Amino acid sequence: MQCRWNADPVQMMHICQSISGWMDDAELMWLFERAQQVPPGGIWVELGSWKGRSLLAAGLGLPDGCQLWGIDHFRGCPGWEPKVGEDPAKECLGNLNRLQLLRPKLRCGIIVGDVTEAAERFANESVASVFIDASHDFDSVTLQIAAWGPKVIPHGWLHGHDYNRREWPDVTSAVVQALVGVESGPAPSGTGTRQTFLSFPAVM
Ligand SMILES: C[S@@+](CC[C@H](N)C(=O)[O-])C[C@H]1O[C@@H](n2cnc3c(N)ncnc32)[C@H](O)[C@@H]1O
Repeated sequence: MQCRWNADPVQMMHICQSISGWMDDAELMWLFERAQQVPPGGIWVELGSWKGRSLLAAGLGLPDGCQLWGIDHFRGCPGWEPKVGEDPAKECLGNLNRLQLLRPKLRCGIIVGDVTEAAERFANESVASVFIDASHDFDSVTLQIAAWGPKVIPHGWLHGHDYNRREWPDVTSAVVQALVGVESGPAPSGTGTRQTFLSFPAVM
């Protein structure tokens, strides 16, 4: 990695594509561009980081002075556990170190633990953007939204992955029940939180 970072999307793609994970190219670009919109000093939290593919897309987009936190217990999800000899925690930390070398003016960290319990570490209305991509079952997604929704600053973002995809009906059900109006993007007036759950590829 070079020593200076000039927010080049081509370089971002090159770096993130070198990390195995679940985000496709369009999603990586979306995360990168969304992170660029975080206000100076803002906090980006990701629930479910695995080896850091989506975490680095956000981290490469964030303005200087922002904070980036990835939260994961690194045990994987049912059916997607680490293989023998695979160490997602080590790889994630290694990738975060790569990011930190490139972006010394970011404050970055990994919280190893349960994503819902980790919400207690953050004050209400303190996080500019929460990106949800941990366990995809109905109860987990419901708990994650309940725990993290209040942490988002007014006019911040509550984002998530795998909404409206055939493979993940629980995500869609939980999101629709917990976040009224989510499909239109903006939250209902009054809540002040913008909600976007990614759906790539679009399901017609
Ligand atoms: C789909 S993967 C995340 C993929 C990642 N965002 C990427 O871009 O490649 C889901 C991750 O969530 C983590 N996870 C699942 N449930 C969790 C929980 N309750 N607390 C902490 N981490 C959890 C798993 O260990 C796994 O690394």
